[in-house]
Amino acid sequence: MERKEFLKYLGVGSGIVAFTPVLLACNSEVKEGFVMPQNAFTQPLHFPEEIRANDFDLVAESTQKTLAGDAPSDIFTLNGALPSPTIRIKRGQLLNINFQNRIAQESILHWHGLIVPPAMDGHPKDAVPPGQNYNYHFDVDQRAGTYWYHPHPDQLTGPQVYRGLGGFFIVEDEEEQALGLPSGGRELPLIVQDKQLNRSGRLTYNVGRMERMMGFFGNTLLVNGQRAPYHELSTSWHRLRLLNGSNARVLDFSFSDNSPFYVIGSDGGLLEQPHEISSIRLAPGERADLLVDFSAYDTGDSVYMVAKARNNSGGMMERMHGRGTRRGRGRMMSGAKNIPEGQAKILEFRITKDEQDAFQLPQKLSETSFPTPADADRSRRINLTMEMMQGPAIDGKFFEMMRVDQKVPRGALEVWEFTNNTMMPMPHPMHIHATQFKVLERSGGELSPHERGWKDTVLVGADETVRVLTKFDAPKGLYVFHCHNLEHEDNGMMANFEIS
Ligand code: C2O
Ligand code: CU
Ligand code: CU
Repeated sequence: MERKEFLKYLGVGSGIVAFTPVLLACNSEVKEGFVMPQNAFTQPLHFPEEIRANDFDLVAESTQKTLAGDAPSDIFTLNGALPSPTIRIKRGQLLNINFQNRIAQESILHWHGLIVPPAMDGHPKDAVPPGQNYNYHFDVDQRAGTYWYHPHPDQLTGPQVYRGLGGFFIVEDEEEQALGLPSGGRELPLIVQDKQLNRSGRLTYNVGRMERMMGFFGNTLLVNGQRAPYHELSTSWHRLRLLNGSNARVLDFSFSDNSPFYVIGSDGGLLEQPHEISSIRLAPGERADLLVDFSAYDTGDSVYMVAKARNNSGGMMERMHGRGTRRGRGRMMSGAKNIPEGQAKILEFRITKDEQDAFQLPQKLSETSFPTPADADRSRRINLTMEMMQGPAIDGKFFEMMRVDQKVPRGALEVWEFTNNTMMPMPHPMHIHATQFKVLERSGGELSPHERGWKDTVLVGADETVRVLTKFDAPKGLYVFHCHNLEHEDNGMMANFEIS
């Protein structure tokens, strides 16, 4: 679809029908974006409970919980918890997990970032109906890192993650242990998600044509399922495992005083060495492992973690907002009120205790041992396309359960080149199952430090081409790759690849 046609479809210059409400909303647009409560930072931050076992049940249920305000929200829990429990396991262990689906829709769990056999991967074809179980048994044999898990049923991933299913899957190994990174109370798993809460604080999720096109965006940011919590800590080093678990929102994270911190790990575990940064961008599905030195603070100080909405990344949105381009376009796009911009303080760190810290930041963290691009067996072009009136797709097609879209010989080393041709100023976090890859380059700019580590999800910005190098060593069978904007995924921006 040509951009011209697309703008026509959106109604620019053609007197449209479909987006009239959006256009009307132009003037009353809530520019500041996130609505944070008056009684912010009064609740202590909760951490997901941990499962450190090899053999356990995960029971999905629907229930109600008050997230903010007075009104209870309809949510899904695993083992009664929101967010879902953190699974923590040592490399080399065999897991046996009995997933019990007790919600009123089909479901299946996927272990995002783990390389497991096809029947263990949570392919949508394996979704089980309400009341049934799915048994997982697989070896965890990969680098220590911050992985995660979430449901993956066809067309229902968005609503199920949105209502609370999904948690960390932390793998530990000896190499990492030897570094003596902050652990226990100094290791903070943080899952950040935007949600739409109505006036009474009830969670809403209405997906219409606009959301299928752009993704679902909330007006509030939750950390571990809580709105504006605080956490008390000492003047010592802390490790933050950060997951953007939003359905569609890309976020830039930083501290309110802009203090620097270190990124030490990406989707697939430790980087070669720590990189000092002051802001990090994570798209839905991406994780980062951070080290923060709180020794510069005094007891009584507070510093906030800040998240900034970045779905306008790549500058396209700014251009569309009318800076230097046709006014019509600008007005049109700023009318997309379900993509509030702006930023919010999402978590307060209160320094409450003076504590000496023996931890020394290591110069060297790990060996990444990437393959060389020159050794690649072949390269493939994956076109992210826009289908008239139906939303973004892959190579002009929507997901079909059993259609094989790419065939990959087992053991092949390949370059996959994702080109964002979806016309809208819309980024797509592309995720490939059953592998970790190396990002070779992005046409729109430099790779950020965490993008230089092992990755399973990479943001393909508006108009960008991103090349990744990946070796397909997973067992033979059918896997998916898709956009991790969950409304895009549910709408069919997903494809099968078969390792054979
Ligand atoms: Cu995290 Cu196929 O997804
Ligand atoms: Cu995945
Ligand atoms: Cu997408």
